[in-house]
Amino acid sequence: MQSRSHGLVSLPLAPKNPLPYRQRLAAVKSFHTGTERLRDAGGPVTRFTLGPRWLIPPMVLATSPRGIRDILNVKDESVDKTTPVFNEMRNILGANLANLPYEAWVSRRRTVQPVFTKQAVREFGGHMAEAAEMVCGAWPDGGEVDLDAESRALTLRALGRSVLGIDLDQRDDAVGEPLRVALKYAIERAIRPVRAPGWLPTPARRRARAASAKVHQVAREILDACRADPDRVAPLARALIAARDPVSGQALTDEEICDELIVFLFAGHDTTATTLTYALWALGHNAGQQDRVAAEVAALPDRPLGPEDIPRLAYTVQVVQEALRLCPPGPTGTRMASQDVEVGGYRVKAGTMLVFGRMAVQRDPALWKDPLTFDPERFNPDRVKELDRWQYLPFGGGPRSCIGDHFAMLEVTLALATLIRRAEIRSLDEEFPLALHFTMVAGGPIWAHVRERH
Ligand code: HEM
Repeated sequence: MQSRSHGLVSLPLAPKNPLPYRQRLAAVKSFHTGTERLRDAGGPVTRFTLGPRWLIPPMVLATSPRGIRDILNVKDESVDKTTPVFNEMRNILGANLANLPYEAWVSRRRTVQPVFTKQAVREFGGHMAEAAEMVCGAWPDGGEVDLDAESRALTLRALGRSVLGIDLDQRDDAVGEPLRVALKYAIERAIRPVRAPGWLPTPARRRARAASAKVHQVAREILDACRADPDRVAPLARALIAARDPVSGQALTDEEICDELIVFLFAGHDTTATTLTYALWALGHNAGQQDRVAAEVAALPDRPLGPEDIPRLAYTVQVVQEALRLCPPGPTGTRMASQDVEVGGYRVKAGTMLVFGRMAVQRDPALWKDPLTFDPERFNPDRVKELDRWQYLPFGGGPRSCIGDHFAMLEVTLALATLIRRAEIRSLDEEFPLALHFTMVAGGPIWAHVRERH
């Protein structure tokens, strides 16, 4: 530790960002594209403030692969999830794997990890194809559909009925909507330099609390339903009930199981649905790419697709990877430096909020040729080797990377292949509008013309 601190002392502080205050604040509030504006003004590692330290911590933003690696690849509590964003999320929604500080997180991750191995998700990961068959079965031949609404319906159906054991089909109002209200409240509070004290019952806080109670009720319903009926198919919920910490042998308490179910509902819904919507929209603009996916899936036997088909859907996987590059559902991330640390060759003082621009690095013209062009060939096995590990990280990296990455890739790939097998899609919107809740989602309906594929 001594030599580490010693080396740090000789490093310079990151350059101060020259953007005027209002522009800095606006950039932080639009945290998907704002990081690119801060980078263009201040460089790949840049520091700035939004107010006095006692109101909001000073920030250092990293948008280079090396800077992002230095933030994410830390394997102790010197860089932790104790930023205002995660603190607010924990306050409003409860403590879960995604927001626990290091010490409590270690055992939780160890306990839940086996639930999500590549092998384990094969058991419950194939339901998206089934849901996709049902959803596109109702599409009007030669009519128009909102790809985003369809993707959401499909994700909720797959996640609810088959994975968690309850019917969530018609229940966006019980899950999706309240989650959005609670998380939007958390993020808006976190990035506001001046905010009302947490105990003050403002209307926004009351709404967020009520929304959180609704989601907790659904989680409790899932757990009770599993306990009451041993035959109920709910592989993900059952895996959580059965999970044990391999070191202590401890099971999760009911409250912890519910908290984790909530993070799965949140992490497994909007993120997956938006990735699918974006991939469909992009293919709807590129007949050549869509034909390649259609040809790949046509070469498979005509039965519902399952995890065993993934090795023969290589191009479809590349399409999903490219969708995640241009539209990463978590466009920006944060951590807190609990000690002085190095980021991209600069010294960062303890108490600084570390921000990293996932969308910025994944669209950086210095790292990607024609960065805004949708080109799944970037992920061709020959070319993917040339990428720096830290320039493409839709599922994060280091110890706190996404636990559901295999699950999500499996689900989106199977859903996409199933939909393209059944329908030809022509996108009607030139642009894909983006909106920020906690994650980045489509900012409105994404209309497409659909025709049955023969
Ligand atoms: C396309 C879909 C998804 C994307 C793009 C995605 C992305 C991410 C990212 C970037 C992180 C790291 C956040 C950070 O570094 O602060 C993360 C964490 C996490 N994700 Fe996902 N995710 C997806 C789907 C899922 C699914 C399906 C689940 C579970 C059912 C899930 C559960 C989690 C959990 C529990 C964490 C926190 C892990 C930890 O801190 O130990 N995600 N996700």
